[in-house]
Parts: sequence; C-alpha cells; structure tokens
Amino acid sequence: MFRIENISKKFDGGIEPIHGLSVIINKGDVISLIGPSGTGKSTFLRCLNLLDPPTSGDIFYKGERITEKGYDFTAHRQKVGMVFQSFNLFNHLTAIENIMMPQEKLLHRSRQEAYDNGMRLLEQVGLSDRSLQYPGQLSGGQKQRVAIARAMAMDPEVLLLDEPTSALDPTMVDEVNDVIGKLASSGMTILIVTHDMAFARTISNRIFYMDEGIVYEEGSPVDIFEHPQKQKTIQFVKKMFLLEETINSRDYDFSGLTKKVYELMLQMKSFGTVWNNTVLLMEEIIQNLLFSLLKDPVRIHLRLECKKHSNVLVIEYGGDELDLVSLINEKAQSSIEKDPDDLLPLTARLIRGYAKEMSYARQERELRNCLTVIVGESGTRKS
Ligand SMILES: Nc1ncnc2c1ncn2[C@@H]1O[C@H](COP(=O)(O)OP(=O)(O)OP(=O)(O)O)[C@@H](O)[C@H]1O
Ligand SMILES: [Mg+2]
Repeated sequence: MFRIENISKKFDGGIEPIHGLSVIINKGDVISLIGPSGTGKSTFLRCLNLLDPPTSGDIFYKGERITEKGYDFTAHRQKVGMVFQSFNLFNHLTAIENIMMPQEKLLHRSRQEAYDNGMRLLEQVGLSDRSLQYPGQLSGGQKQRVAIARAMAMDPEVLLLDEPTSALDPTMVDEVNDVIGKLASSGMTILIVTHDMAFARTISNRIFYMDEGIVYEEGSPVDIFEHPQKQKTIQFVKKMFLLEETINSRDYDFSGLTKKVYELMLQMKSFGTVWNNTVLLMEEIIQNLLFSLLKDPVRIHLRLECKKHSNVLVIEYGGDELDLVSLINEKAQSSIEKDPDDLLPLTARLIRGYAKEMSYARQERELRNCLTVIVGESGTRKS
C-alpha cells in the first residue's frame, strides 16, 4: 500500500523528528505506532496523508509517487482518512450533517446519497439515534465515533488514527476501541498512534516502535512487547509496565497514586484481584505500617512492576534496620483482643492475606531497608 523511502521531515525551527525513515505498509495491515513523546508519530501520520508532506525522501502509494511535485493531495487525503485526538467536528452542524458535508463537497454525492450513507455509518458506530444532535450534546466517546463515521464516509482505503482515545474519559475508551476493532477485523488498513498497549496488542498485526527519527524496531505484538531486541525498545517496554514513586511526607497524596495505579491497570487491561490486592497492600504497608513506625522525615521509594499474572511491589525505606517481614509475621500471631487500640495485628493479618510472597533485605551500605512483595491473584490467606 505504502512504500516509504528514506523520508525526513524538518520543521522551520530546525527540529527534524523524522530522519531517514523507510518502511513498507501492506494492504490490510493494522499497525500501532508507539514510542516516547516527540518521536514523530503524529508527524509521520501527517506525512502519510500529505497533510504535511516530508521535506525529503519519497512516499509511494499503490506504486504512485505521491511526494512528486504537483501531486493531487486532496484526492489522496480522501483515500487516506485521518481521525484526531480532538475529534475536529463542526460544532454548528449535527452529527449527520458533519458526515454528509464532506461527501457532498468533496465527492459530489447527492444529499440523499450522503444522508443514506451517513445513517448507515452512524448505525455501524452505534449512534443512529443521535443523528440530529450537535457535538455539544454528545459525550466525548460519541463525538469520536461520529468523527470515525465521518472519516469512513469518504470510503477511505487507509485510516490513520492519532491517539483517538487519549482525550476521553476512561469509561468511554471501550466504545471507541470497539468501533476501531471492528474496522480492523473488516480488513481495513489502519495505522494508529496509541498509548493503550493492551488494545495495540489485540488489534495489530504489526507494532512500530518509533525513536531516533525512524521506525526504530518493528514486529508482531509478541515480538515487541515480549521479546524486544534493541536497547531503546527494551527500555520503553520495561517502563510501560513500571510505576515508580517517592514518598517524602505523611501528607503524601495517596489518591493520586491510586489514580496512577488505575491508569497502569487500564493499560494492562486487567481488573483482576491482583490489582485490588496491590492497592490494598500499598495502603496497608505504607500508610498503616510504615507511617506509624518510621521517624520523620519519612523517605519511602516505591516501585511497582507488572508481570503477566502478578505484580511485584518493591518498597524501600530509610532509617534503622526494620525487618517488616518478621514484624508482620510476629504481629499477625498476636491477639487482636489483647489491646483493641493496637491496630498492628489487624494490619499485619491483612497484609499477609493480600500478599503472595514477601521478603526483606537490609542494604547496610545505603542504610536502607527493602521489602519485596509479590502480589498474585490471591494472597497466602494464612490469617
Ligand atoms: N508544525 C510544527 N512545527 C515545528 N515543530 C513541530 C511541528 N509539529 C511537530 N513539531 C515537533 O516535532 C517533534 C515531533 O512531534 P510529534 O507531534 O510528531 O511527536 P509525537 O511522537 O506525536 O509525540 P506525542 O506522543 O507527544 O504526541 C516535536 O519535537 C514537536 O515539537
Ligand atoms: Mg502525537
């Protein structure tokens, strides 16, 4: 479909996010573009539909050199549709009018034809009952589905989607992803920039990891997510499944941390007990145990690493030697009734219940303590 030969894109300010990129895109490919911010993912999509052509190199579309001077970019953009993060709908037009307008204007379809086609597409994205509503009356997820229907109304051969769900409330991500997933399985050629790795994994046959101005590494989802070969891909993939946080005060914003964990969880698409156990353990260990045991100023470093069926929670804390595993085991044995005001026995039992495995190490040189907790589907439930 596309043959991209050694393209570069240099902006006026001198930034050159794309530099010497060559790659082939086949008909029916569903490609997810991933990579750190600023690595030219959006720029690359804009090059492909000539919204912003490359400054050097060539792009061939079905054998035709579209980077040739005077090439009909309007016709090309109809074949290669684009959907943006921010919907770009006309607010003064209803959903159906938004979809009809480009068909009448660019493809010279009759009003009736544009309407029938528009209604069929609205039906496909599950919004036939919203045709007469204005964008302001629709939710973000609905607006994005209208934007997808509008792009599809031009009968494109390729669809480019630039972070179509990242402006959406998490509850609306699935409805939009469902629509994209259906298009992908219908054989549509799709390139999508996304941070939703679980989604990328399920819909794509190829993943492009972008860095250093090029498609730095590419492969199947299994290749890239499970066996990345090159240095930067390895680092990126590792980081995707990692959350690190430093806690410097007892006033620490725990709800903010829970939110970050929730985002990571969405990215992993796993809502299982592992995640409930992880959040509960973080609260019990840090707030209920360490905050009451450590002297001021508290210095806690937390690292959460997500594996396939478990999470590894590493909690480092400064100060004198404090073996939390022994303490937890000891406290879990002591009677709760003995001193009702002492909450440690209860906390210790909960921690033992939620954790699958725990180990403690003292790093004498750095004067640090390190507690490693493996969180699985279910805890040891010894208590
Ligand atoms: N029109 C422009 N003029 C000047 N510089 C630009 C322009 N568009 C993009 N850039 C710069 O080019 C680089 C790549 O931008 P691009 O938006 O393609 O990155 P990205 O990979 O999509 O990042 P993100 O993940 O944050 O969306 C950035 O440094 C950006 O500031
Ligand atoms: Mg971008």
